[in-house]
Amino acid sequence: MNSTMRLSEGQVLGQEAISGGYRHMRVRAPEIAAAARPGQFVHVRVPGLDTASLRRPFSIYRADGDEFAILYKTVGRGTERLAELAAGAHLSLIGPLGNGFPTDIGDRTPILVGGGYGVAPLAFLAARLPRRGVALLGGRSAGDVLCEQDFAALGWSVEVSTQDGTRGSRGLVTMLLDRHLAGSAKGSALELFACGPDGMLRAVGARAIAAGCPAWLSLDHHMVCGIGACLACVQKLRSPDGSTRQARVCSDGPVFEAREIVWEEPPR
Ligand SMILES: Cc1cc2nc3c(=O)[nH]c(=O)nc-3n(C[C@H](O)[C@H](O)[C@H](O)COP(=O)(O)OP(=O)(O)OC[C@H]3O[C@@H](n4cnc5c(N)ncnc54)[C@H](O)[C@@H]3O)c2cc1C
Ligand code: FES
Repeated sequence: MNSTMRLSEGQVLGQEAISGGYRHMRVRAPEIAAAARPGQFVHVRVPGLDTASLRRPFSIYRADGDEFAILYKTVGRGTERLAELAAGAHLSLIGPLGNGFPTDIGDRTPILVGGGYGVAPLAFLAARLPRRGVALLGGRSAGDVLCEQDFAALGWSVEVSTQDGTRGSRGLVTMLLDRHLAGSAKGSALELFACGPDGMLRAVGARAIAAGCPAWLSLDHHMVCGIGACLACVQKLRSPDGSTRQARVCSDGPVFEAREIVWEEPPR
């Protein structure tokens, strides 16, 4: 375990449904809240599942005072059980885990690109970056567009797209990004941060490389231990000399620069 990571107990302060099957949960956990950086996650043992069940990873969405929050979507056994927890329930937590996003961006303008629950760590990042920029939020449908007000309240410019056109422009969020990257001189003055499905991350990375700007991508891999011990989450990376190596997304990531990532599957 690294120096800022701890096994601790948290107490659910409350939770509420937001939209599209997503929920917002607040947890009192002073040590995690104090140490958390944007892009880090907590590994949660869901109470009520058998003790052999794996922990579930969730990005930290906010950290203030002695509490932090997550945004999650109910997709299976663990998240459905999580959704049943009332205020006062106790959670076993490991965190904060992972490297997080860099926040030293010099004089470049940040562009955040988020899809679905991938917006959660970007909302936290928006509050901690030294400069405001543009948040590009995408989803399949209107209910998948999260945190729009968070970015706006922090003074970020917000643009939205949905695949079915029920909110914002119709199309993929990378369509919005293309408008900002138009012209290579403009691209090099930008720094990109993205979290969402692999297809979106890969498309953002390819555009950043073509435009000559850095892009920090938060990978979403299935995890078991969450602390670098089991190798369930490995990702192939490319070093500057062209050699490749395997990294652990949980402990070396989840954030990697686009040029490092070797995508194994052909693009869809
Ligand atoms: C670093 C990291 C940060 C994450 N942050 C968030 C977050 O902020 N909010 C959120 O809602 N979810 C987040 N996830 C995904 C979340 O961990 C899974 O949705 C959760 O573990 C599912 O548990 P379950 O028992 O409900 O579903 P399961 O019964 O385990 O699985 C149900 C379905 O979800 C799929 N699934 C499980 N884990 C993942 C995953 N990691 N990525 C994609 N699909 C998955 C399964 O293949 C299956 O189809 C994050 C994952 C990682 C690795
Ligand atoms: S989940 Fe075990 S090494 Fe990453």
